[in-house]
Amino acid sequence: MKILVIGTGYVGSTTAMVFAELGWKVTGLDTDVHKIRQLRQGLLHFHEPGLEDLLKKHIQSGQIKFTTDKDKAIQESDVIFICVGTPSRPDGSADLRFVKQVASEIGQKMNGYKLVVTKSTVPVGTQELVTGWIEAAQEHFYPFDVASNPEFLREGKAVTDALNPDRIVIGSESKRATNLLKSLYHSVKCPFVITTPRTAELIKYASNAFLATKISYINELARLCDELNVNVKDVAGGIGLDPRIGSSFLQAGIGYGGSCFPKDVSALILTARQNNIELSVLEKVVKVNQTQHSYLTDKARTRLGSFSGKKIAILGLAFKPDTDDIREAPALRIIESLLNERAQLRLYDPIATLPHDAKYESVAVCLEVEEALKEADAVFLCTEWPIIRGIDWAQMKDVMAHGNVFDGRNILNAHDMQALGYYYQSIGSND
Ligand code: UDX
Repeated sequence: MKILVIGTGYVGSTTAMVFAELGWKVTGLDTDVHKIRQLRQGLLHFHEPGLEDLLKKHIQSGQIKFTTDKDKAIQESDVIFICVGTPSRPDGSADLRFVKQVASEIGQKMNGYKLVVTKSTVPVGTQELVTGWIEAAQEHFYPFDVASNPEFLREGKAVTDALNPDRIVIGSESKRATNLLKSLYHSVKCPFVITTPRTAELIKYASNAFLATKISYINELARLCDELNVNVKDVAGGIGLDPRIGSSFLQAGIGYGGSCFPKDVSALILTARQNNIELSVLEKVVKVNQTQHSYLTDKARTRLGSFSGKKIAILGLAFKPDTDDIREAPALRIIESLLNERAQLRLYDPIATLPHDAKYESVAVCLEVEEALKEADAVFLCTEWPIIRGIDWAQMKDVMAHGNVFDGRNILNAHDMQALGYYYQSIGSND
């Protein structure tokens, strides 16, 4: 069986590499000539631990190839994974323009039975739309199926997650399609959820929205912990032992970011509204997340009096460690609000970089933690990179002008920091 993956972005590249690793012949297709040229040379255009090694391995083994030749790629394939982007429209809904374009091209060029699979996170009902778009574009009739097979991998852990998933969800109305997809994953040991396409599409949104809910819940509780002199880490540890709650996604901090949670929660709220349902819990989840970074900057402003003219170090820019992704990163929101209040910023992140935008021009980008902390009045810890977790704060005491530490990821111990003479403010773990 020959697999075609259309779209070599984050999900597409990982999907292609994983199927190659599972032993299938894979072609990666993209309209971006530059990206394809880079991939052919074994180079990834984003940071993801272990993925570039897989890419190099399978280019060498001949399991994977990359092309911009759509017609040939579609005709040579048996199973086509659609992994193109589904950006958010201003109202929060998913823009399916690229999915529609790809579906039409598949319809026009197909030369026999094809199984078309949506991997990108797409609104409920997309499988039906894709089926209609392919049918409308077909010049000759060929049978085909469209199935939904959402991806649950996390950035920074994509290879491990994709090769060892918790579950594989297959939304399909055809036995042939279900069996084909199951056979592609035959060597993966995990539960299979075989369901309708609509259910599969909703499982993906409901899953991300539930995890986002856990985060906003613990983040709001952390604010109460600060008032009650209780440590939110202890509360999270205590409640997480109940298997009905679980201990993951209970780390309080400056909020969730990334390409999935913010986008998917908004899209689900909108889908509900379009169906006259109000997802009021999720609306609050978004609200808590939007104000979580300012919870910390408000505390800092109170401590410092004002940000104007203050030298402030920002440690960590990526929305989480092990990625260079800054989409919806809480650090960016903190940077913007501090710049608006005329702070002088020095930024350190091991790999993520600021967007090219005049509004960030005044930010000094540092190559070392110590350089960012030099003569700083305060520091904000925004991403829990190992290098940031491992800072020797005893040594940094003389590097900084004033020892004000605002820990947006609760990575330090309040007592240790206070013993070193720092003013320390976290999010619910000051005790
Ligand atoms: C998420 C889902 O986990 C994954 O299943 C889906 O396929 C894509 O979206 P990802 O966005 O890569 O993955 O990152 P994740 O590790 O889930 O973290 C998302 C955000 O939540 C990050 O900003 C992280 O810092 C934050 N987070 C996570 C918390 O603030 N607290 C936590 O306890 C966990």
